[in-house]
Amino acid sequence: EKFEHILTSSPAPGVALITLNRPKALNALCSPLIVELNKALKVAEEDDAVGAVVVTGSEKAFAAGADIKEMKDKTYDEVFRTNFIESWHRLYTFRKPTIAAISGFALGGGCEIAMMCDLLLASPSAKFGQPEINLGVIPGAGGTQRLTRLVGRSRAMELILTGKTFNAEQAEQWGVVSRVVREGSVVDEAVKVGEEIASKGRLATMAAKEAVNAAYELPLSEGLRLERKLFHSLFATADQKEGMSAFVEKRKPKFAHL
Ligand code: HXC
Repeated sequence: EKFEHILTSSPAPGVALITLNRPKALNALCSPLIVELNKALKVAEEDDAVGAVVVTGSEKAFAAGADIKEMKDKTYDEVFRTNFIESWHRLYTFRKPTIAAISGFALGGGCEIAMMCDLLLASPSAKFGQPEINLGVIPGAGGTQRLTRLVGRSRAMELILTGKTFNAEQAEQWGVVSRVVREGSVVDEAVKVGEEIASKGRLATMAAKEAVNAAYELPLSEGLRLERKLFHSLFATADQKEGMSAFVEKRKPKFAHL
């Protein structure tokens, strides 16, 4: 399918790359862009060849937020009736591992989209923040919840109440991103991680994602129960037989999709 606001490609075996592509608006996340993103995710979810998805923007902007020009004249009636922003949640419910490759601005909804991904890599140039307070609103796609879980309450309060940005180094220090990589290499690095993830057993990586994300959703005892259930379920898969046999036979595993 041809998209207007995103690009899709397959840069390495098992990896789908989704590039946000509204350069003139610094990848402001208008509703049609989110519709396209969700379509691309559906395709990637249904494609057995895809084991991981990388989401990126441009060098200048991962995404500068929800589209302010589109939101400006919206009324309460409309946003309530249409459940505005609910559709953004699709990225979080996507079942295969997702990696955000972030350069430049990741502000407002851009920061929130990045935080919906399972793993975040940043360029030294990356600039994060939740500046919604400066527009008379608050984050609406998970910023108050995800940023708080990642950086702690006091830091999240300071960031969200003042709207001030934080840089790549701070994002790494606070655990928002897993690594800051060399300038210009963030997409390559993310694709490399995606390729490695895609080379593992598909069901195992999907189960691992579900279990880790459950740590942010469930009380510990329930999370541990879910983990054990998922762990048990993997003994029903060919990949478990193959993975463990390969170890015992001192060879590399050949998982089903390879
Ligand atoms: C619509 C945007 C935009 C946005 C940038 N643009 N961000 N359009 N929505 N969020 C447009 C500008 O209007 C401008 O278009 C063009 O992109 C280039 O932007 P400039 O401002 O000229 O670039 P620069 O001076 O480099 O400044 C970059 C910037 C600034 C610091 C990122 O653009 C900015 O502050 N943007 C808004 C950031 C923000 O507040 N994000 C949160 C949005 S609210 P023209 O046509 O003038 O050339 C939000 C709500 C989330 O995300 C809740 C639900 C998801």
